[in-house]
Amino acid sequence: MDDLLQRQALDRLRDDQALVPHESAHKHVTGRAEYIDDMAEPAGTLHAYLGLSAHAHAQIVGLDLSAVEAAPGVVGVVTSADIPGRNDISPAGIGDDPLFCVDRTSYHGQPLFAVVGRTRDAVRRAARLAKVAYRALPHRLTALDALENGGNVVAPGMVIASGDAGQALARAPHTLAGRMTIGGQEHFYLEGQVSLAIPGEDGEMLLHTATQHPSDTQEVVARVLGLEANGVRVHVRRLGGGFGGKETQGTLFGAVAAVAARKFGRAVKCRPDRDDDMVITGKRHDFVVDYRLGFDEAGRIEALDAVFNARCGHSEDLSRGVTDRALMHADNAYFFPAMRVESKLLRTNTVSNTAFRGYGGPQGILAAERIIEEIAYALGRDTLDIRKINLYDGADRNTTPYGQEVHDNIMARIVAELEASSDYRRRREEILAFNRSSEFVRRGIALVPVKYGISFSKKLMNQGAALLNLYRDGSVHLNHGGTEMGQGLHTKVAQVVAHELNIALRRIRVTPTATDKVPNASPTAGSLGTDLNGMAALDAARTLKRRLVAFAVETFRVHEEQVSFEFEAVRAGSQLVAWPDFVEMAYAARVPLSATGFYKTPHIHWDRKSGRGSPYLYFTYGASCSEVAVDTLTGEYKVLRTDILQDVGRSINRDIDIGQIEGGFIQGMGWLTTEELWWDKEGRLRTHAPSTYKIPVASDRPRVFNVALAEWSVNPAPTVRNSKATGEPPIMLAISVFEALGMAAASVAGYRFASRLDSPATPERVLMAMERLKREARAAG
Ligand code: MTE
Ligand code: MOS
Repeated sequence: MDDLLQRQALDRLRDDQALVPHESAHKHVTGRAEYIDDMAEPAGTLHAYLGLSAHAHAQIVGLDLSAVEAAPGVVGVVTSADIPGRNDISPAGIGDDPLFCVDRTSYHGQPLFAVVGRTRDAVRRAARLAKVAYRALPHRLTALDALENGGNVVAPGMVIASGDAGQALARAPHTLAGRMTIGGQEHFYLEGQVSLAIPGEDGEMLLHTATQHPSDTQEVVARVLGLEANGVRVHVRRLGGGFGGKETQGTLFGAVAAVAARKFGRAVKCRPDRDDDMVITGKRHDFVVDYRLGFDEAGRIEALDAVFNARCGHSEDLSRGVTDRALMHADNAYFFPAMRVESKLLRTNTVSNTAFRGYGGPQGILAAERIIEEIAYALGRDTLDIRKINLYDGADRNTTPYGQEVHDNIMARIVAELEASSDYRRRREEILAFNRSSEFVRRGIALVPVKYGISFSKKLMNQGAALLNLYRDGSVHLNHGGTEMGQGLHTKVAQVVAHELNIALRRIRVTPTATDKVPNASPTAGSLGTDLNGMAALDAARTLKRRLVAFAVETFRVHEEQVSFEFEAVRAGSQLVAWPDFVEMAYAARVPLSATGFYKTPHIHWDRKSGRGSPYLYFTYGASCSEVAVDTLTGEYKVLRTDILQDVGRSINRDIDIGQIEGGFIQGMGWLTTEELWWDKEGRLRTHAPSTYKIPVASDRPRVFNVALAEWSVNPAPTVRNSKATGEPPIMLAISVFEALGMAAASVAGYRFASRLDSPATPERVLMAMERLKREARAAG
């Protein structure tokens, strides 16, 4: 018994929230975490490689693959003619996204065929030997190019309107207009896209693939193979990062592997190299935002009228969800008495843009912060003062432009606490003094709030399911519809189940996500992984508990209230039975020890047509304060210090949440500073490798980096253990870096003009902005 007690004490200690490490942490750092490319290949596995178009928009008048087929190591090729089902890999069957383009290419780098052979090296070389004849067609590469030349869209835009923005603008004491360009972003997951298809009996296909959305992959591969959904199983142990880039865009590689596996009757793996991965797959949408703004003497926003032009690429993909969320976050944390925002989903001859952490929210919020900056500089005020007087106030200025009440508003407290803990006021004074006397180096500081809505706006996606298998020895297999991509979802969901059954976490093993265990799962996206799957797993655990309680009542002849789940043991009246013994007894009494669980988010509704509803179960609130130093001779900069205060409700795992905040912030910094996508006139992506596309490295992190959770926050919404989502919101915290750069740049013209930086604020852009500001100042005298 002493041993048992000691063991229990240790387990309990280990399960203490702060001490639970990510289930794969030790495997990530020792290289033992198995990714798809590490898996033992079935005997005779072949490799597929994609042949890509060399035109942004052209008629394909000839495709000669004889040299490809004759190349050493090649077994054969796969073209659209080999597709047994439909040549369409679009999500939800929109129908505009071919697996292989047939007679027309719509972006530079679009897949035309795949070559299949014995080694990856052989097929990679062979893919380049195709002879393709094109008849060039005019192409549109940017959103503005598309807008000015017919304005072809991939899907209808949306309008959110509240109040009469036109009238309010006409009446406003101050008005101004501007344009902001917001750059896109490459996901740069560490593990690239990869799929391994293994053909089985009766035409069945098993697919190991790096996807955030196994069910969509199942549906797409079944569609392409001409099978029903039950002909395809999709398994996902883990992804080496997804960030939205594997929500829909992994299906291409899965479908290629599956069609090739069907044709050759062998297992087929498809893994593009990094350069091709970057060329073939979509990115964060870049936007051009045109705005007209009205405000009063005090700096209060009166009205906004803005058009969000998004470069969507050649097909729709997830562009509706992304651009909708941009509009629904164009208020950020601020009350707009009158607003009209409209999205244009422009079709371009570029890769189809897709989900990326925040799903358009970051772009919307960045535009809102530009508006704050405009007001502050026009009135000669501290940007934080303008931010604060415009915050949703929890009283009569508390309704979003789309009609949802900000019911759990804690933003003012978050901002006030961060203002104090970061010592914002004193440091700002110091920075102003520093800038007065410093000739070449200028500093800037900004404190920016971020409010982010949690739930999918598509109501049907707000569901989750889980399967819990309890074995006779008391150990548990837990399966749910979510995928693990490094964010710690499996750890959190296992913690939820361990907590509910009151057993040691080590008894629970989360099994790979599998469409044949939990069907019809939503993507792991929208930061909803734990909200949906944690609740579903909780439901399954409760079902098991109910059965176990009934069993205990009957066996020990006690009342229900006398049965309790103690740590690692079940008490029934005066008896205390160790968990494994209790489970063995239940098994012997023929209690079913497997249960499913289900969850659907309550209280949400959204009508895209009217741009109104209450789409979010709750909001997360956060704020960050960053200080930068800029070299005014070169535009180079560094981040000296960042303080973050983020609301995650009641945290399920503090270390994982803080990891998400740190990682998300740095990823956001990359988006807003150094990561620049550049297509040449022919529509060729020229930034297709880390040599030309600069993601942040360890030395780019803020020199001082203080991340804190709002420990007092409890989610009032009915979420799993009153936690809040943490995956996406932190990316937007990096806007404080961008705004601080704006202040440092504005110093060269005595803060008389907003620096109106476009993103990414690369050193070149910062330098050019400072030159422009100096010219403006000279012109104004
Ligand atoms: N963290 C890691 N390490 N890797 C990832 O790919 N994706 C982000 C975020 N954090 C990601 C990540 C994105 S885009 C989302 S939507 C959420 O994690 C998804 O996981 P969650 O819902 O479990 O938070
Ligand atoms: Mo995240 S962009 O919702 O995958």
